[in-house]
Amino acid sequence: MVYIMESHEIRNRFLTFFKKREHAIIPSAPLVPENDPSVLFNTAGMQPLVPYLMGAPHPQGKRLANSQKCVRTQDIEEVGDKTHDTFFEMLGNWSLGDYFKEDAIKWSFEFLTSKEEGLGLDPQRLYVTVFEGDENAPRDLEAFEIWKKYIPEHRIYFMSAKSNWWSPGDNGPCGPDTEMFYDVTERGLGDMSKEEYMAADDRQEVVEIWNDVFMEYEKKDGKVIGKLSKKNVDTGSGLERVVMAVQKKDNVFDTDLFVPLMNKIRELSGGEIRDVRASRIVADHIRTSVFMIADGVHPSNTEQGYILRRLLRRAVRYADVLHIEHSQLSELVPVIAGIYRGVYDNIKEKENFIVKEIWEEEDKFRKTIEKGFRELKRLLEKGSISAHEAFHLFSTHGFPVELTEEIARENNITIDTNGFYEEMKKHQDLSREGSEQKFKGGLADTSEMSIKYHTATHLLHEALRRVLGEHVAQKGSNITVERLRFDFTHTDKMTDDEKKKVEDLVNQKIAERLPVLQEDISIDEARSRGAIGLFGEKYGDIVRVYQIGEGDNKFSLEMCGGPHVENTGTLGHFKILKEEASSAGVRRIKAVLE
Ligand code: ALA
Repeated sequence: MVYIMESHEIRNRFLTFFKKREHAIIPSAPLVPENDPSVLFNTAGMQPLVPYLMGAPHPQGKRLANSQKCVRTQDIEEVGDKTHDTFFEMLGNWSLGDYFKEDAIKWSFEFLTSKEEGLGLDPQRLYVTVFEGDENAPRDLEAFEIWKKYIPEHRIYFMSAKSNWWSPGDNGPCGPDTEMFYDVTERGLGDMSKEEYMAADDRQEVVEIWNDVFMEYEKKDGKVIGKLSKKNVDTGSGLERVVMAVQKKDNVFDTDLFVPLMNKIRELSGGEIRDVRASRIVADHIRTSVFMIADGVHPSNTEQGYILRRLLRRAVRYADVLHIEHSQLSELVPVIAGIYRGVYDNIKEKENFIVKEIWEEEDKFRKTIEKGFRELKRLLEKGSISAHEAFHLFSTHGFPVELTEEIARENNITIDTNGFYEEMKKHQDLSREGSEQKFKGGLADTSEMSIKYHTATHLLHEALRRVLGEHVAQKGSNITVERLRFDFTHTDKMTDDEKKKVEDLVNQKIAERLPVLQEDISIDEARSRGAIGLFGEKYGDIVRVYQIGEGDNKFSLEMCGGPHVENTGTLGHFKILKEEASSAGVRRIKAVLE
């Protein structure tokens, strides 16, 4: 029998390879970023590392590697083709001001092609792109020269910033990159001109399997403003695609990460694959939903919950195409738990809860779906859908606007999505992944105001514990340049008196002009010193803690990646705008600094 390397081994080999090259292996951060509102979900392995790429020392050193759970939904309508999925794992290695292009490229090549330590991929099937240069940075001849040691020159192509410059958003670290592509055709493509290579890329005959970003620049408000203090390396390799290359498949759904799931979908659809695209969409969307729910997301009409709702409802629509009946979607959950056994065991642990969440969301949508589709059909026949009508479909029948938009487009009708959002704003505070405001504030944004809100959040957290009791624990946090939002465990509505006490205490600590001190200590020491904060799986053994106040004036000790102000005296006046229920047993505070 031919030996086929399984996905779990591929993940392990990656980590072992970089561990041997002195990288600390850090755990995957949860899907929902902690204290970083610049994105709804971690979309790349580097996202939780932004402060360190910007120059802060990482507690575990200058060389890091991991496999990070990621969600990207901007290409949701591409799902169903060979390579797109909304959830993926990103294998990544980082140099924080340590090695640079020479080693990064060498190790990428070695890992991909070495039979002993790596994946044993065929170097003849490898193609590489490098940055061609523009007004921000020169043509990357250095990367080109290094690659020439490993790959024939005519399979290295110079490309523009559009494909070969990477940044996580409009603000933060960025730089030119070099991307590796693998030929997944059976026949083998051989040598190709740049034009032929680009056409092969369009046909998904070559697939991007790794990106090495040379992060030595900084972006502010969408413009490159100069160099960072250090030259960093940020790499990312999509596990699903690498597995596809290693297992010699031409699409991710035929790899061992998906096969049991695709088989179950076939079984539920009556033993046959009626529609390949629909089957892949159901597999992808339910898989992503399972990971989201396991990491604490609940279907709702805002933020992360809205993305989850949209995925689940879109899955229901495609389940219909496959004749998968009501309530059967949740039968996919145990299959997904099985695929990730030993890697993400929180799925197995929460299996019953995840089944219930998916079942309930499906049920809710199905109760109104028929009426909704009738209304939608009527509108399609009429030939136009106004913003108001799209909003009605959403508010009364639970149709996410993107779903309405998609069905309308299939019928050659466009809808006024902007008008829809204006309508929506009148009713509630809906945020949408990708919307501009998501990229303001947060870790990727080092603006003064968001840093102030980070520190104010620590003061608020501790003040709540002192006023309401030690059961108060952070459940979520979201900061923009305009306000902070803090979710915490507490059952009762806060009284006016309690709110005032919390406000006064925070303002008192601001008035005391307390220093904010940072220290990197072991997680055990953090626990024994009574540090609060999310004891998540994020940092491994060493954590960073921020202490506000010293000696007898010590007020709070909290785990956090930062950044923070140096002294509370700079914060201004703290004011609670709103205190409300967020979900069962969780309250939410919105507050500002004036
Ligand atoms: N951060 C880079 C990417 O996501 C590696 O492609």
